[in-house]
Amino acid sequence: MIESRKEDHIDICLNEDVQIEKDYWGMLKFYHDPAPEIDFDEIDTKVEFLDTVLSAPIMLSAITGGYKGAEEINSILAGAAEEVGIPFSVGSQRAAIDNQGLRSSYEVVKDHDPPLVFGNIGAPQLVKQGDKDPYGVEEALEALNMIDGDYLTIHFNFLQEAVQPEGDKKARGLLEALTVLSDKVPTIVKETGAGIPAETAKRFKKTGIDAIDVGGMGGTSFSAVEHFRIDDEHKKSLAKALWDWGIPTPVSTLECSAAVDVPIISTGGIHNGLHVAKALVLGADVGGIAGGILPYVRKGKEEVIEYLEHVIHGLKISMFLQGCVNIDELKKRKLIVTGELRDWIGTV
Ligand SMILES: Cc1cc2nc3c(=O)[nH]c(=O)nc-3n(C[C@H](O)[C@H](O)[C@H](O)COP(=O)(O)O)c2cc1C
Repeated sequence: MIESRKEDHIDICLNEDVQIEKDYWGMLKFYHDPAPEIDFDEIDTKVEFLDTVLSAPIMLSAITGGYKGAEEINSILAGAAEEVGIPFSVGSQRAAIDNQGLRSSYEVVKDHDPPLVFGNIGAPQLVKQGDKDPYGVEEALEALNMIDGDYLTIHFNFLQEAVQPEGDKKARGLLEALTVLSDKVPTIVKETGAGIPAETAKRFKKTGIDAIDVGGMGGTSFSAVEHFRIDDEHKKSLAKALWDWGIPTPVSTLECSAAVDVPIISTGGIHNGLHVAKALVLGADVGGIAGGILPYVRKGKEEVIEYLEHVIHGLKISMFLQGCVNIDELKKRKLIVTGELRDWIGTV
């Protein structure tokens, strides 16, 4: 069941349009400096993130694992992350925790050495769902050991669970379970495309987590993905209505980074270096890419590397045109907020 769902998600993301229509990153504009007084070649994109040096402030966010074809995808992504020098996350490891036979699609990551490797389990699995016992420290460590991972990401995806006919909908007691887990295991919390507001970031911080990935609205919509999986007419139309439910990634990035002093990853609709640059100005430490990498994965590792280098090149152009030689300087720059984002940010 989980196996076929994971495969469906990749197929749907590749073959259907499951993106948010509005371009929230495009609603932010930089101030241009026509006389930057730096040379392009001086620009250094290196950053330190979670005590690790990265070649650039970007990462490959969680996508997959747990079915046969996922082994090649994770190998390509982890190999590319190693060569480029950026973090990599596997997708949900629930399939392999519940079925040892599916571990190889995650274990393949051990053949590569990205600067940081993140494991991944769903927040719903931290509390009892139906007759299924919750995961605890033992399962969390098992997930990390499977990939020699540095941090375990806990994804909060209740929009998806709510629209999925088979979804897990028990959320009571989760923060307490997260507190117990974070005490023993290095953890990151993330959303999967609906964003995290300031108040929830503060509640997360109290549980002892090490970082937050805002996983905002603006890129892949999981309500859209489920819309294409559902047969029932009413549920299908509800998933469509919930397509753009959530907090736009730029808003969530700004809110979380202002509210808590933990490292912030900004994932959700990041497709080029300009988007990364804008996320950094809003307070993110790293910009995460998930859906945008998929078309290149299909073509192989070299294509993924070429795309990531193109993202870094775009980041450098946005630094050059504002006279920034390093990321610290970029983070001090300003953004002009336009369009619908002005209404959102007006409510911060
Ligand atoms: C095919 C696909 C599968 C995903 N599976 C997971 C997952 O297993 N665990 C998770 O935390 N996030 C998962 N995500 C969510 C992404 O990590 C990310 O938060 C979200 O897609 C928004 O980023 P994007 O707009 O760059 O796609 C998945 C995304 C895609 C496109």
